Amino acid sequence: MKVRTFAPATVANVCCGFDVLGFAVDFPGDEVMLTLNMSQEVTLSKIVGDGGRLPLDASKNTAGVAVQSFLKSIGKQQGVEIELYKNLPLGSGMGSSAASGVAALVAINHLMGNPLTREQLVVHAMEAERIACGSAHADNVAPCLMGGFVLVRDYNPLDVIKIPATKNLYATLVHPQIELKTSDSRRVLKPTVNLKDAIAQTGNIAGLMIGLTSKDYSLISRSLQDKIAEPIRSAFIPGFEQVREAAVRAGALGCGISGSGPTMFALSTDHATATKVGEVMQLEFLKNNLKSEMYVSKVNQEGARILDEK
Ligand code: HSE
Repeated sequence: MKVRTFAPATVANVCCGFDVLGFAVDFPGDEVMLTLNMSQEVTLSKIVGDGGRLPLDASKNTAGVAVQSFLKSIGKQQGVEIELYKNLPLGSGMGSSAASGVAALVAINHLMGNPLTREQLVVHAMEAERIACGSAHADNVAPCLMGGFVLVRDYNPLDVIKIPATKNLYATLVHPQIELKTSDSRRVLKPTVNLKDAIAQTGNIAGLMIGLTSKDYSLISRSLQDKIAEPIRSAFIPGFEQVREAAVRAGALGCGISGSGPTMFALSTDHATATKVGEVMQLEFLKNNLKSEMYVSKVNQEGARILDEK
């Protein structure tokens, strides 16, 4: 019993939704090959593409932790062997740790006969996030599992909602060649938010929800602003403001930091604009001596998927 799965990159926060909003893209993403065996243990037999940096110890690896948490919840002691194929760069802000955990979860859930729904898998993927970056946020793992734009309305109890958003949005991801650890990018944030910023953020997240569901692209555009994380985190991204301005000048609805960065994302209404936007973003990074990779895709609607099984 063997299955190969794919879990996509995700953009968390989407400017105004710090820790409560994210969306998935079609690619890039991580792959997992998961095999059931008679050992009663969860093991990682290999990790490809991480340059030897991720732990093979299943209790320290996001894929292993997610599977262990899942098996515990369904009360099964099952031998599992995981092969992890990392295509997402570490510390990129593209939901790399989330994708590994989610790919493994979708695989084990499938092989066990799908006892849990995608929504019910979110808590197990959050446990993996806790191991990877010290905080069990859901704004990468929920869209990675469920596809589309997903709102985390509350964490206690967890309430995740797939937003019936317009499907006509294209995402541009530009990943400059620097690395930022999510734990570090979280540590710099202030523990409190001032009232003026809280008011602006609340207006923007509400505006974005309405814009996405009513296909009001001008409202989406006006709402893609962050008063909480970006003003602090942008200091870690050379050329941040120029990159953002260039993206908007080239026709993007908005542009900001993807998750905890350094990847920057933009949203556009067609593929050609999304590509042009990516090119100008790359040029601005180059002016700061930063090479980058660019990915353009539609906002993904399905989330992680089964590739094949034997
Ligand atoms: N919401 C999280 C953060 C996402 O911004 O720290 C991390 O990928």
